[in-house]
Amino acid sequence: MTMKLIRGRLLTFLAEPQAADDGASYRFEEDGAVLVEGGIIRAAGAFAEVKAAAGAAEIIDHRPHLLMPGFVDAHAHFPQAQVIASFGAELLDWLNTYTFPAEAEFHDQAHAARIAGCFLDELVRHGTTTAAVYCTVHPQSAEAFFAEAEGRGMCMIAGKVMMDRSAPRALTDTPRSSYDDTKRLIEQWHGRGRLHYAITPRFAITSTPEQLEMAQALVEEHPDLHMQTHLSENHAEIALSCDLYPEAPDYTGIYEHYGLLGPKSLFGHCVHLSEREADVLSDSGSVAVFCPTSNLFLGSGLFDYQRYRRRAKPLRIAAATDVGGGTNYSMLRTMDEGYKVVAYHGEKLNPLASFWQITRGNAEALSLESRIGTLEPGTDADLVVLNACATPAMRLRMERAETLAEELFVLQTLGDDRAVVETYVAGEAVKGGL
Ligand code: GUN
Ligand code: ZN
Repeated sequence: MTMKLIRGRLLTFLAEPQAADDGASYRFEEDGAVLVEGGIIRAAGAFAEVKAAAGAAEIIDHRPHLLMPGFVDAHAHFPQAQVIASFGAELLDWLNTYTFPAEAEFHDQAHAARIAGCFLDELVRHGTTTAAVYCTVHPQSAEAFFAEAEGRGMCMIAGKVMMDRSAPRALTDTPRSSYDDTKRLIEQWHGRGRLHYAITPRFAITSTPEQLEMAQALVEEHPDLHMQTHLSENHAEIALSCDLYPEAPDYTGIYEHYGLLGPKSLFGHCVHLSEREADVLSDSGSVAVFCPTSNLFLGSGLFDYQRYRRRAKPLRIAAATDVGGGTNYSMLRTMDEGYKVVAYHGEKLNPLASFWQITRGNAEALSLESRIGTLEPGTDADLVVLNACATPAMRLRMERAETLAEELFVLQTLGDDRAVVETYVAGEAVKGGL
């Protein structure tokens, strides 16, 4: 099998950086390289050392650009690729006005395949190599998505949404059909290549108690699978959820009652959690997914990242675009908005922590760090190459950047898909041709 030596200014995280000068939290090699064989990282480190161990290998030199693990997006909706940038509504209106009509078209598998392909191409163009993705209610939307991801060799988590009320008829299933369809999709797709199935009750508003019981059964029957849903995004959504489930102590209590909390459970948004809700999420090891561009765009609220991390019972946190409530495919743009949300709360998220979050941090939140998010030998060679001088404005700013942390902050604040020079999926360069 041919070996590839991908050379660049190598950056990888070992632990969550506690400050901009936390040198122990990352490994940086000014002249570094990743040795790839059969889609797997065989070695990573200083170029001279890796080369000595490599023997004959094709060398691809990306210097002076940064080379790091591919970005991970912990929450996005592929069927909303044509909903992104829809004007003027808050969450529930936005769902009814824009999102549900667009999702209704995904009964057509050819349409689903086309949009899934476009969505995945956008991820790659923006340096994202893994995402946790919502499909529509139609099983064929999940089939189309998984087929497109498989064709691209990408590590993807996805599931058909379960939704049996509070939506147009064309978008509702039943408790039984959602169980049966999910079961069949799990058998067909979970564990195939790099694909993972996520049990996906959309949110409490669109599921009856009977359907959440079915979601519970699925989680109990498949404890190793991810479960993803939405939680505590905006005030009207919270009030309606609590009306629909009057016995629950709060919104989180609904999912808690149906056994949906746990270390593989991903809760999108979590903007307005009470202390009790944050405690039960923390106790169960559940993940709160920070979606800053979406929360700002829909006017949902401001996620208190530092409070959640620093509380006596800290939350596991992931970061995500939430396309198409979110306004950009880029994890750089996402963390730029995230920085501003954290700043609003009077704190500063250091750039090392941001890049840890969208690589190793998100991989850990998705329990996938043994495969992605690091440059450890034996893991999958999903990589991104970044140019902090990609635009005239970035080039000008970089004339005054002296440290790695500054360079990362320029990438995050001014960068987007233009800063992504190349993306490697399982060792193959996939951005160049797009
Ligand atoms: N809550 C339930 N469905 C959705 C969705 O598609 N997007 C967002 N942002 N919130 C949701
Ligand atoms: Zn969402």
